[in-house]
Amino acid sequence: MHVQIHISMKRKSFLALGTGLFTAASLKSANEKILDAQFNDVTSAGSYQEFDWKTLRTLFPLNNDRIFLNNGTMGITPYPVLKAVQNSFEKIAETAEYPHHSDTLEKILGEIIGADAKEIGITKNVSEGINHICWGLDLKRGDEVILTEHEHVGGCLAWLHRAKIDGIVIKTFPLGKTADETLNHLNAAITKKTRAIAVPHIPCTIGQILPVKEICDLARSKNIISCIDGAHPLGMIQFNVKDIGCDYYAGCFHKWALGPIGSGWLYISQQRMKETKIFHVAAYSANEFNMRSNPPSMGPILDQASRYSYGTFCGPLHIGATKALEFYQKIGPSRIEARVKFLASKLQNSLLELGDKIEMLTPTEERSRGAQIGFRIKQSKKDNPNIGFVNHARSNQMILRHVAENGLDNIRISTHYYNTEEEIEQCVSLLKTYAFG
Ligand SMILES: Cc1ncc(COP(=O)(O)O)c(C=O)c1O
Repeated sequence: MHVQIHISMKRKSFLALGTGLFTAASLKSANEKILDAQFNDVTSAGSYQEFDWKTLRTLFPLNNDRIFLNNGTMGITPYPVLKAVQNSFEKIAETAEYPHHSDTLEKILGEIIGADAKEIGITKNVSEGINHICWGLDLKRGDEVILTEHEHVGGCLAWLHRAKIDGIVIKTFPLGKTADETLNHLNAAITKKTRAIAVPHIPCTIGQILPVKEICDLARSKNIISCIDGAHPLGMIQFNVKDIGCDYYAGCFHKWALGPIGSGWLYISQQRMKETKIFHVAAYSANEFNMRSNPPSMGPILDQASRYSYGTFCGPLHIGATKALEFYQKIGPSRIEARVKFLASKLQNSLLELGDKIEMLTPTEERSRGAQIGFRIKQSKKDNPNIGFVNHARSNQMILRHVAENGLDNIRISTHYYNTEEEIEQCVSLLKTYAFG
């Protein structure tokens, strides 16, 4: 059966993958070079309209009978990434070579987001990065930090916890229907005591893109620190942290970048590095220590973000994340952005055609719309139709997200490039029969 993967006719191999022959068992013996060759074949050329997304989909193990519209929670991993992770685990087991930290992943990520590798630390998830940021700021009792009303637990809990422990004050503002409206709401929440603004680039609730560049400009003009929760943008939209001008940005590889689960990153601008406090340190945080000197001593904590990637880490996940970024770059960031936004706008337009039967929460403004659409069902005879539809969809092998957080009670649908126009049509049609049929 594994012979299927070694067939040199690339197209044929794709068909083998597509028919499910490329199972977990065959992943073990898959030749990474052949996977790469197949991948190069499919990423040849063309605008996002001409690109062969359907064939690319065969490089994902996701069962063909599953419609996965919840990439906002977790990205699905393609075979080349899985293979890279697996190879790396095997190599460690076979050679007993310890996975020393290198800055390969930081460098490739740095190229994508416009940061120096020294400004990037590798974490296990966004929440960890946000904790480093929150506890690293020099805040005292009564200092105010502004967040949105649309936070994910990972985006706000560190701040709420610090409010309890240190007496900082958390203020919130609502999101607007346009970028300008959002900025006005934020502006109104700023006071003389505001020390930091900590907002998502793209909130998990309704997926609108916040005007982070303007937010950071505003913060800087008032001497306020800017912290961005970047759980979603990497792999969905293109952005540059220097252009945004943020002080801190916490992201991950395991959502839109389709990297291995449990892999994240943290950007701290070089200007903020020295003044940022760090409490958890170990290997890679400082170059020297001596427990036999009197008194025992250590060298200075490094002024680079590798200090956050301390101790033994999961080397295979770093290798998988590197592969995921290569995969992303090969397909083409602008092509991906165009594709995911196109699918989301198609979905939004189909939902808007339902008129008053739904309440559209994601802005229709182009610059504010990414690849996630949030809405509520109205005028349905069903009780609790939003959670009801998400459960109904799941029983039909379609995975969506119900947003219960902050009492929002809405449905969120994520559209990644591996999704198809047909899947979106099926989703809207299922919604119509469920809620209004
Ligand atoms: C906006 C936002 N922030 C933070 C998080 C937490 O991310 P992680 O699970 O990687 O810690 C998520 C996860 O969905 C999120 O959507």
